[in-house]
Amino acid sequence: MDRNLVMEFARVTEAAAINCAHWIGKGEKNLADGAAVEAMRKMFDTVAINGTVVIGEGEMDEAPMLYIGEKVGCGGPAVDIAVDPLEGTNLTAKNMNGAIAVMAVAEAGGLLHAPDMYMDKIVVGPKAKGAIDLNKSPKENMINVAKALGKDTSEMTIVLLDRERHKHIVEAARSLCVRCKFITDGDVSPVIATSFGTEGIDMMMGIGGAPEGVIAAAAIKCMGGDMQGRLVPENEEEVKRVHDMGIEDINKVLMLEDLVPAEDPIFVATGVTNGDMLRGIRFTEKHAITHTVIMRGLTGTVRFVEAYHDYERKPKYIKIK
Ligand code: FBP
Repeated sequence: MDRNLVMEFARVTEAAAINCAHWIGKGEKNLADGAAVEAMRKMFDTVAINGTVVIGEGEMDEAPMLYIGEKVGCGGPAVDIAVDPLEGTNLTAKNMNGAIAVMAVAEAGGLLHAPDMYMDKIVVGPKAKGAIDLNKSPKENMINVAKALGKDTSEMTIVLLDRERHKHIVEAARSLCVRCKFITDGDVSPVIATSFGTEGIDMMMGIGGAPEGVIAAAAIKCMGGDMQGRLVPENEEEVKRVHDMGIEDINKVLMLEDLVPAEDPIFVATGVTNGDMLRGIRFTEKHAITHTVIMRGLTGTVRFVEAYHDYERKPKYIKIK
């Protein structure tokens, strides 16, 4: 993929983040999401791609914009796009840390078309690559990852969503003195933290959204970490969706290569509220300031871009004041 396109994608998540920022802390998660979707959709019209949304806001009949199958871009190479215009709608509504506008892009066929259901995830950074196995128990995985990292389990930290369904993971962690970091929402950034190695996070475990799983997997592939996922259908309709994807065995463990077969995936995210990875949107008298991370699979380069958007000179669709 043309590397210059990467900056174009950054403009797309910047626009989404800026446009939903005025909803931060207003208790209106759907309006915040809608504002992010609208700006992202409009900004795509300026990007020189033939894009197809493969993970988006929903099916064609239920989502007016960025629905699965929607074509975006103004012409160029064929790419598949996975978007989450506002990852952490609750975090935004409550003005809590960790909300981002995010997307992954890859050559056509380069991203798993994950349906909107749950996915069981296990993720580590580059040093523990190959040490994870979703078919093994949480306890075995923690022991194996600690070994790969050359640490005692008591020196290890896992991150997980604070949910009743993760009780067994917490029990395993407690039995090994593994430190747990709980998050209330938004598991894309914590997944990525495993591979930065700067936040003291060694592993992410547990069930979250499948679309978020694929988007985060694009970043993990760029950074050389490791991830496995297993779809968790909750009813007959969801089981059928898994089968329709060509996955016969619903217990199949999806390896990183299954989640992101692309050779050159791109991952882009802009902070909405403050987080460990990205600063949230800030407003000055003259500018809206965005903080964006951009990753390229081919080279593994990770760039942080801080941009100052002048209120007077930005296109009208960015409601920055
Ligand atoms: P939003 O769709 O409201 O942004 O929530 C996203 C999220 O917190 C994901 O990051 C996570 O994977 C999933 O929801 C967890 O789902 P649940 O809240 O049902 O446990």
